[in-house]
Amino acid sequence: MGDTMDAAIAAKRLTKYFHDVCAVDEVSFEVRDGEVFGFLGPNGAGKTTTINILTGLARPTSGSLCILGQEVTGNIKRAQHWMGIVPDESNLYPELDGRENLCFCASLYGMRWREREARARELLEQFGLTAVARRHFGAYSKGMKRKLTIAAGIIHRPRILFLDEPTTGIDVASAREIRRLLAELNQAGTTIFLTTHYIEEAERLCHRIAFLVDGRLVRVDTLGNLVRAVQDKHTVELSASGGLGEMRSLLRDAFPNEHFEEISDTRVLVRTDHPLPLAPLIRLLEQHGIQVTEARVIRPSLEDVFVQITGLELARMKNESSRS
Ligand SMILES: Nc1ncnc2c1ncn2[C@@H]1O[C@H](COP(=O)(O)OP(=O)(O)OP(=O)(O)O)[C@@H](O)[C@H]1O
Ligand SMILES: [Mg+2]
Repeated sequence: MGDTMDAAIAAKRLTKYFHDVCAVDEVSFEVRDGEVFGFLGPNGAGKTTTINILTGLARPTSGSLCILGQEVTGNIKRAQHWMGIVPDESNLYPELDGRENLCFCASLYGMRWREREARARELLEQFGLTAVARRHFGAYSKGMKRKLTIAAGIIHRPRILFLDEPTTGIDVASAREIRRLLAELNQAGTTIFLTTHYIEEAERLCHRIAFLVDGRLVRVDTLGNLVRAVQDKHTVELSASGGLGEMRSLLRDAFPNEHFEEISDTRVLVRTDHPLPLAPLIRLLEQHGIQVTEARVIRPSLEDVFVQITGLELARMKNESSRS
């Protein structure tokens, strides 16, 4: 990655102390224009503190920050109209309804009445909230609240959208919908920076992922590269309609040095040190009358990568399946 001028965000050695607690420790990274970049880390890792520094809600103790090529350290105001912010807890007014909240946010950006109304209507439609446009925000469900907070964050069509844990506390279906909305925004050109402690969220949404642990940035890379970096064995799963015994002996003859593992009476795992091309393997089996019903390469998950790189136990991270 090269020129800081091309970067939507360029952070250099950002550090934040709260008295003697170092919440963010010399964190450096660049976010490219148009990318979805995720900060993944357990509770207390420093995700919120970092996003607060990037959006000007907190001052770094040291380090420097460029937003869209502008040096903004100590003067983030000049970049604020390019940025949209979705905090982890909503900043909207409970006593105003959905439409009023959006119109109020729009007025803060100097939009005129007609434009405000049109933009609010458009966003309510886009976020599936038209039916509750006249309901008080305080009476919204958590999922509706999060969606309206995101709509408010993009009211002024920012170039970079910052979201702190966009789907935390949201059920699986609503979380999926929020991710779809974010992917759409990104496809339309918005750069997205988000924090999450859901591994699946980073995996599904982010082009590049940064692992943050105890205030330190442990690794930044694409999902593909992260996975490749920890992959020491290659695994292929084969399913056959029958004749598993024969399949096993054939495979043992063909790959005497490899490891096989049966996972059911119709499935076998083959582990090798080198990538195994599937087509010749299937051909070999079929030549001996074994009908292969499924063959797939199994890659390590981001979860495996995270555990291996950070040495952290998964208990500190949350899985989507454990959501309430
Ligand atoms: N205002 C503050 N005063 C003192 N310490 C703080 C303050 N804000 C954060 N910290 C500390 O900084 C560290 C990082 O906190 P931060 O909120 O950034 O973590 P996080 O990754 O967002 O965690 P979570 O997943 O729980 O939201 C923690 O040790 C926290 O206690
Ligand atoms: Mg946080």
